[in-house]
Amino acid sequence: MGSVRAMASTRLAYLSYVRAVGSTKTLAGAGCSVCCRRRLCSSSSRLQSCMPAWVIDQYGPNGVLRFTDEIPVPAINFASEVMIKVCAASLNPLDISMRGGYGAKLLKLRRDPMSVMDSDSEFPLILGRDVSGVVVDCGSGVTHFAPGDEVWAAVPPWKQGSLAEFVTLTEYEVSHKPKLLSHTEAASIPYVAATALSALVNAGGLCRDNCSNKRVLITGGSGGVGTFSIQLLKAWGAHVTVTCSHNAEGLVRGLGADEVVDYMAGDVAAQLDMMEKFDVILDNVGGETEQWALSLLKPWSGAKYVTLVTPFLLNTDSMGLLDGIVRSGFTLHNKAIQNIISNGVFYRWGFYAPDGPALDEISKLVDAGKILPVVEAQFPFTQVPQAFQKLEQGHARGKTVVRVADEDEDLPQAEENVDDGYREAAEPEQARETLKPH
Ligand SMILES: NC(=O)c1ccc[n+]([C@@H]2O[C@H](COP(=O)([O-])OP(=O)(O)OC[C@H]3O[C@@H](n4cnc5c(N)ncnc54)[C@H](OP(=O)(O)O)[C@@H]3O)[C@@H](O)[C@H]2O)c1
Repeated sequence: MGSVRAMASTRLAYLSYVRAVGSTKTLAGAGCSVCCRRRLCSSSSRLQSCMPAWVIDQYGPNGVLRFTDEIPVPAINFASEVMIKVCAASLNPLDISMRGGYGAKLLKLRRDPMSVMDSDSEFPLILGRDVSGVVVDCGSGVTHFAPGDEVWAAVPPWKQGSLAEFVTLTEYEVSHKPKLLSHTEAASIPYVAATALSALVNAGGLCRDNCSNKRVLITGGSGGVGTFSIQLLKAWGAHVTVTCSHNAEGLVRGLGADEVVDYMAGDVAAQLDMMEKFDVILDNVGGETEQWALSLLKPWSGAKYVTLVTPFLLNTDSMGLLDGIVRSGFTLHNKAIQNIISNGVFYRWGFYAPDGPALDEISKLVDAGKILPVVEAQFPFTQVPQAFQKLEQGHARGKTVVRVADEDEDLPQAEENVDDGYREAAEPEQARETLKPH
């Protein structure tokens, strides 16, 4: 399976049990004493009123990112909520776009329908859509998580993000983190996984049980969504063709891609046209791709083109909420009708959707060694602007991760772990070893 898998086996061989000790060193770790299983937790996060975070106070270029340690800790306001101490976060293209104001109108409405007339109500805004961390507090209705649980989640864009010490989410959005991954590795997966699952399953009609005879094309296979989707589809038994640039071929082949087309080497559409036609196309590139990609699908056989690059939020930003939604509806409807009539194929838009239970399934695949994290770059919490800069340069090869708390920093302990005093965790040095593209 290539160098990526070989590196993973080496890394996993070094996994060891390390003692998870309580300490007064960290803000959340300090005195997080669990006084009642699942329902009540007297954690320091409750005693602490402010936390460090990277925020923006206006939309704009990288200079708008500001570090502060005076952001109110996100309190648990509903019985179903879980407060997480963030160990690692990762960045997505959406963070760059949101920093510049992308989606502001609709996301603001989703955050607080009453504040839509207030021009600055979303600030200070915390970006960061992935979290891997430890539960420090639970609402009274939370049944699946307890303080001390190691969890991961994709933070919906309408919520305060994970570039902060704490993030609060609903139980439904959270999942237990794969045991074999460090927090740094785990943070690279949730948002791209939730997006890929939503696009491939809900829009593309694929699932674990129907992929064995399916041919899938992934455009932009070397980025965050692409590197995850290749592995998921291979785990489900699909035949996967990928477009990427020449220097990413080793990476995508190492992740399992069956056929790779270098989009820089000549006419990519012509190269793909010579291949057997596809059942599903997942388009991570957008733009002109849809002008040639739909003809690569098998006609009149239920084949689907799903693009993640949609004008939906651009429309609501530029035209206002009502006009933007109506325009998007017309555009999607027209393209869907046109493609079913003229090509016999389905045209669809794919979107991220929060889904903790789906992440549970991904967690199993990760722990079974079928999905590996692809971390291209890591930055400490002090260098969040540099992490944004890296992502903004493009040409991603997997994910860029921000280490919010050090892996070996003392973290709250699960009540279940108190007796034996041990939990499974990556040995710190090995945990930081990442899967780098070759
Ligand atoms: N609708 C949603 O809810 C949703 C959710 C997540 C992501 N998205 C969107 O989906 C897209 C992919 O996300 P991502 O996180 O995977 O982005 P990413 O990590 O930035 O990856 C994009 C990848 O595409 C490659 N690429 C660029 N142009 C290409 C081309 N013409 N043909 C083939 N590969 C090309 C890039 O490498 P090179 O430039 O070196 O080739 C890069 O590896 C982004 O536009 C993102 O905004 C949408």
